[in-house]
Amino acid sequence: MLARWVSWGLVAFAPSALALTDPQTVYDALSAILLPSSELVLVPDNAYQKDFTPRYNLAEAPSYIVGVRPAVAEDVKKAVTYARDSNISILTTGRGHGYTTSLGRVKGAINLDLGKFNSIQVDAGAKTMTIGGAVNGYQVVAALQEAGMEIPTPQCPCIGFAGASLGGGIGPYSGLYGPISDSLLSVDMVTADGRLLTVSETKFPDLFYGIKGAGFNFGVAISLTYQVYPAINNGKAMNADMTFLGSQNESLWKAVEELAASQPKELAFGLSVRYSPDPPSEGIMIAANFIYAGPRTKGKALIKPFLDLKPQNVNISTVAWKEIPLVANGGAIANFGCNPGVYYIPYSLNLYRVDVPNLVDVVNYMSQAIGADPVLQGTSIVWQEYAQYGFQLRADDSSAFSYRDVKAFVQIDSLATDASQAPALSKFGCELRDLLQRGSGKDQLDVYVHFAHGDEGSASWYTKEQLPKLLKLKEAYDPAGMFSWYNPIIPAAPPRSKFVK
Ligand SMILES: Cc1cc2nc3c(=O)[nH]c(=O)nc-3n(C[C@H](O)[C@H](O)[C@H](O)COP(=O)(O)OP(=O)(O)OC[C@H]3O[C@@H](n4cnc5c(N)ncnc54)[C@H](O)[C@@H]3O)c2cc1C
Ligand SMILES: *[C@@H]1O[C@H](CO)[C@@H](O)[C@H](O)[C@H]1NC(C)=O
Ligand SMILES: *[C@@H]1O[C@H](CO)[C@@H](O)[C@H](O)[C@H]1NC(C)=O
Ligand SMILES: *[C@@H]1O[C@H](CO)[C@@H](O)[C@H](O)[C@H]1NC(C)=O
Repeated sequence: MLARWVSWGLVAFAPSALALTDPQTVYDALSAILLPSSELVLVPDNAYQKDFTPRYNLAEAPSYIVGVRPAVAEDVKKAVTYARDSNISILTTGRGHGYTTSLGRVKGAINLDLGKFNSIQVDAGAKTMTIGGAVNGYQVVAALQEAGMEIPTPQCPCIGFAGASLGGGIGPYSGLYGPISDSLLSVDMVTADGRLLTVSETKFPDLFYGIKGAGFNFGVAISLTYQVYPAINNGKAMNADMTFLGSQNESLWKAVEELAASQPKELAFGLSVRYSPDPPSEGIMIAANFIYAGPRTKGKALIKPFLDLKPQNVNISTVAWKEIPLVANGGAIANFGCNPGVYYIPYSLNLYRVDVPNLVDVVNYMSQAIGADPVLQGTSIVWQEYAQYGFQLRADDSSAFSYRDVKAFVQIDSLATDASQAPALSKFGCELRDLLQRGSGKDQLDVYVHFAHGDEGSASWYTKEQLPKLLKLKEAYDPAGMFSWYNPIIPAAPPRSKFVK
């Protein structure tokens, strides 16, 4: 019933039958059908606090009445079937790092925590890896390094590898191999009708296309098999961290523009524009990170235009590939990204060009706004730039992943120390997104689905080109919208942001 979404812009919450549903009734019904080895608890409950995967983001969190941690696939089928037949919302939890505000619409639901699906097998001979639906990024890189293999790794070690893959999954080495979803060979998933399907290029190819970039819309992925690649450069990489003063922003953006024009596939680049109270910045500072899948001497030569700007705190080292998510950016992403329970206000957009004058304007606006209101000191602009080589290995219509021509994935990250700061930070995030959008190279706001705030709308997450095909797929596999919570495939509607325009 996609029709119920047509008024998306007007109705903030999906209709819910839950006022009518007593938690104990749901608990008793599930208890009668699930194996004793599958954990089942009422929410809240001590066991829920202790055993269930905590959410990374406190803001706009879903609310649950019952938690289930199925031990076997059969119980995933039973939980999904029960939820469907009883008209109760159900949401899968992988590693809990999904932060889009669209999840705030989930009320009184069953939390289907895949925590027990945490196995990982690497077959170096066959160059494949099979993981459970709740394995995290670090488990993957550790197991692959041990086997002399690799795959694109996300920047943060704690996020769900399956969760990331279902929306694409981007990170260092995407310049070589594309989004993580391009490496998927098959997925075992429970669909809305309660079937367990093995989905691949040859079995349910239409669904396979949708899983790779919009997967959370179609079911529960229990087991995922990937192609993996023999480690290059002996499984080592150069990691280079450095900082620039705000006053250097224009020359830095010019260097970024040049890099973006011909970025080597082995080189990943990121920066973070933020406030620092400490000298010598005492205002805007910019931290830059380079990861190079090759020898350090060669990597250093490639980043010479940046070193020529005389940055501070330069630290260039050789690290094992699996350490990248732990050490990059001075370990900031690992430290910040692995502690659940933050009040996170995310905005994001894709840039299709590096517009130097616009970026200088953005930095200046940010500096001025932070100067006027110290609450805004909690905001940073984070830039991830991967070579397009890996992304361009596949055609746009090969999967739902729709961002093969992006120059930079930009996040506007705000952390509130308490909820009272949220309105100001949210308004600021929106303003920065609007300003950045002016220089994006596209009229429409396009955003990587996993970095989305949740207010952008389906055409921004899935692109105008892919949305019609995805709507048909949704109608075929999830007509009642059981899996329409996380940035759902719904007919396009105007954005419902409170702050834009
Ligand atoms: C600090 C931080 C850093 C990040 N860095 C990166 C990055 O470098 N690259 C990148 O691509 N993304 C990154 N992300 C985004 C990340 O890919 C998404 O947040 C992703 O949803 C995380 O998956 P999860 O399993 O941890 O989250 P969850 O909140 O558990 O799941 C997110 C959504 O996916 C669904 N889902 C999860 N697992 C499954 C499954 N097995 N089957 C069906 N549905 C499932 C859930 O129902 C939910 O709707 C980052 C996020 C954070 C918070
Ligand atoms: C399920 O719940 C929705 C929302 O309350 C309601 O509109 C719909 O009629 C219900 N469907 C069934 C089959 O009970
Ligand atoms: C950014 O660069 C411009 C151009 O050099 C400069 O005028 C401006 O002061 C810089 N911004 C900050 C915050 O230092
Ligand atoms: C330099 O980076 C390496 C990892 O890449 C890290 O182990 C080391 O502590 C860093 N040194 C300094 C001084 O920050």
